[in-house]
Amino acid sequence: MKLFEMGPLDYSLPTQIAFGWGRTAEAADLAASLGRRALLVTMKDLSAGPRIADILRKGGIEVEVFDGAESDPSIEGIDAAALRVREGGFDFLVAVGGGSVIDTAKALCLLARGRGSAWDYTIEMGDDRRMGASDTPPLLAIPTTSGTGSEVTCIAVMTNKGLSKKAPIRDPIIFPRIALVDPELASTMPPKLTASTGFDAFTHAYERFFGGALSMLVHVLATTGMRTVVENLETAVNEPDNRAARTAMSWAATQCAMALAPPGGEACLHVFGLPLGAVAHVPHGQALAAVMRVITRESLRRMPKRRPELATIMGLPEESSDEEILDCIEAWLKRIGLPTRMSGHDVTEHRISCLMAAISRDRITKALGEEFGEDDIKRLYLDAL
Ligand SMILES: [Fe+2]
Repeated sequence: MKLFEMGPLDYSLPTQIAFGWGRTAEAADLAASLGRRALLVTMKDLSAGPRIADILRKGGIEVEVFDGAESDPSIEGIDAAALRVREGGFDFLVAVGGGSVIDTAKALCLLARGRGSAWDYTIEMGDDRRMGASDTPPLLAIPTTSGTGSEVTCIAVMTNKGLSKKAPIRDPIIFPRIALVDPELASTMPPKLTASTGFDAFTHAYERFFGGALSMLVHVLATTGMRTVVENLETAVNEPDNRAARTAMSWAATQCAMALAPPGGEACLHVFGLPLGAVAHVPHGQALAAVMRVITRESLRRMPKRRPELATIMGLPEESSDEEILDCIEAWLKRIGLPTRMSGHDVTEHRISCLMAAISRDRITKALGEEFGEDDIKRLYLDAL
């Protein structure tokens, strides 16, 4: 069976990747190409932040630390931090942390020389009202989790607490200039965070795998990325000191996100998962796991020709049925400790109207190329309870 369709492709990844165990030691050398004065964005209690600030300072770089990044970065927090960034005269920014920190730094890069609020730059504003920037300071992204792949994407997810909504900024100008991916930094993640961030990595490739026509390049990035997660995540969860599994997961997170670089369709797992984060504060990877079964059933219905390959990625025979694949994915998620239903996060039927208010209908229609009505959305959320 033909697995990919080599149609037109635009691929650009303007991010230099420096990958390897222990390469944090090279941070100052890498940063030197970006300037002399940096704002390092991180989170309190993240030991890698001060450690990398120290490495940069020893390398002659002037560093100011902003350790106020939040998980699920809020518009309010970012807009407040932007005031300091605008005054600071920084040559470049450094992000040290997980996806929330890197996304915060990306938004601060946009606002450093730009106007308005971070929310004005999200796709939620629509193509006609969305703001763009033409001049941003470069970003050195140093992930401390293996999951979001934010170090190689032009996406930053923002939370608008006032509207109880999450929406991404998607703008090529926020691709980090350099991604320093050192698996050692992610090797201290506790099992639950390893599981949820590692599953998030899988889903980035999965979005493109079910996102319509697959070019050969995206096919290779997505499928080998998904396979690597399936082969290594459980080991990384159960054996935190397993260097090979940690290294494989770090690379898989970066590679799975590289599958997202070219514009394309998506399975809509994130579209359905993001409201769970915004409304019920379910951590990102766990929110995706809670809707995985219903979205995969829907994806296989729409694109049955992807079934044999998804089966083999999950380690099943090619001829496996939809239900066998769904059961296999669900069992895998349970083994790594991720609830596979929304009820596992105390989300009950009475919250569904809030989830439906928070979901981006436009994005579903764009991604699936077909109308998706209220009843369809409600049915999927009910099935995920
Ligand atoms: Fe994600």
